[in-house]
Amino acid sequence: MKYLKISRSNKLQGSIKISGAKNAALPLLACTILAKNSINIGNLPDVVDINTLLSLLEKLGSSYTKNKNNITISTLSINNTKATYDIVKTMRASILVLGPLLARFGHCEVSLPGGCAIGQRPVDLHLKAMEAMGAQIEIKSGYIQATAPAGLKGAKIVFDKVTVGGTENSVMAAALAQGTTHIINAAKEPEIVQLCEVLVNAGLSIKGIGTSELIIEGTDGELLDFKDFDIIPDRIEAGTYLCAGAITNSKLTIENVIPEHIDAVTAKLEEMNFEIQKTNRTITILPTNEIKPVNIITTEYPGFPTDMQAQFMALATQANGTSIIDEKLFENRFMHVSELMRLGADIHLNGNTATINGTPNKLNATDVMATDLRASSALVLAALVAEGETSIHRIYHLDRGYEDLEGKLTAIGAKVERFNE
Ligand code: UD1
Repeated sequence: MKYLKISRSNKLQGSIKISGAKNAALPLLACTILAKNSINIGNLPDVVDINTLLSLLEKLGSSYTKNKNNITISTLSINNTKATYDIVKTMRASILVLGPLLARFGHCEVSLPGGCAIGQRPVDLHLKAMEAMGAQIEIKSGYIQATAPAGLKGAKIVFDKVTVGGTENSVMAAALAQGTTHIINAAKEPEIVQLCEVLVNAGLSIKGIGTSELIIEGTDGELLDFKDFDIIPDRIEAGTYLCAGAITNSKLTIENVIPEHIDAVTAKLEEMNFEIQKTNRTITILPTNEIKPVNIITTEYPGFPTDMQAQFMALATQANGTSIIDEKLFENRFMHVSELMRLGADIHLNGNTATINGTPNKLNATDVMATDLRASSALVLAALVAEGETSIHRIYHLDRGYEDLEGKLTAIGAKVERFNE
C-alpha cells in the first residue's frame, strides 16, 4: 500500500488545471451502452474509479482504446449482462449499468453494492424506478436480477428522495423505453445535466433538463447515434483546490472550471472572508487577514455539496471561532473527524452535526488514515498547515477520484511525496 507524506506549506502559488468530472464520466460511460456507434470522449479523468467502470464494461464485452484523458469506446459487442461482485464491491457506482443494460437487453444481473464507509447507501429507489417502468426485480444470492422481457415502458417515476444515481439510472432506462417517462423530484446536479445533453445530442427528446421534472420520450428499443463529447470539469476537485488556497491563505487560480457549478462553495469561502474572483473559466482565491467561522448544511445541488463537507471541516479548523457543519445526506460521513482530531483539531460531534472550534495554526503533524475519498482530501488539506510532516495512509481512496494530486499540489509549491508502506 502507498502513503503520502505532506509537509506544512507556507504559501502556495500559481494555478491548477481541473480534470474532467469523475461523477459525470461514470454515468456517461455507462450510457454508451445505449449507443449504436463508437464514441470519442475527451477530458476523461485518469482516476481509478473510471478504470474500474471501464473494466466492468470490458467484462460485459465492450471494447475501447484509451490514452490518458481520451477514449474511443464501442459497446455494440456487449454479450454479457452480469455485473459481478468482484467489480461492484470496489465501486458502488457500478450500479449505473443497471438502467442501460436492462433497457437494451431486457435483462441483467448486477451485484448488490452493499453499504460503504459513509453510510448504508441503499439502491431501493433505483429498483423502484425500474419496477415503475415494468421491470421485474428479484434479489437472489446477493444479485439484483432484473428482467423486462417485453421491454421497458415509459412511466411516472416519483422519487421519495432526491437521488443522483437513481435519476441517472432512470434517465438511461427511459431512453430506450416504449413511450414517455416523467421523472418527478429528479436530481439537478450538473453531471445529470450533461448526461441529458449528451443523450439529446444523440437524438433523444428530454424536456426539463436542469429541473426537478424530466420528461423523456423513449425510442422503443432503438439504439442512439452518439456524437463525440468532452466531460465537464470536476466541480469537487475545483472546490478542493480552492480550499487548499484558503487553508494556506494563498493566492491560487483554478483553471478549466465552470464557476456557476460551485457557487454554493465559493459563497461559503466568501462568508469565511476570502475574496473570490471569477472569469468564465477560472476562479481565483485571494488571501485574507482573518479566516472567519462558517455554518454549513449539506444538501442537493444547487445547495452546498456533501462531497465538499470534509474539506470545509479541515478549513474550519483554521478559522477564528466556532463553525457548525450539518451533514444532511449521509448518516455516517464524519469518519474524517477522528483523524482531524489526531492532528489536534477541536471538533465535537452530535449526531449529524459537527461543531468545530477553530484556532489558526494549531494543528500538529502525525500519522492519519484516509477513510473515504473526500475524507482523504480533508486530511491532505489539514496536512498542508499542520506543523511538521503528516503521513496519510490508505490513500487508495484519493486515487479513486483525484487525478495527479501530488503533481498538481507540487506544481503550486506544496511538499507532497508518495511512498510504499
Ligand atoms: C452521488 C455521487 C456522490 C455524492 C452523492 C450526493 C456519483 C458517482 N456519486 O452518489 O459523490 O456524494 O451523489 O451528492 O455521482 N438513497 C436511498 N436510496 C436509493 C438511492 C439513494 O435512500 O436508492 C439515499 C442515499 O443513501 C443518500 C441520498 O439518497 O442518503 C442521496 O444519495 P444519491 O444522490 O443517490 O447518491 P449517489 O448517486 O450514490
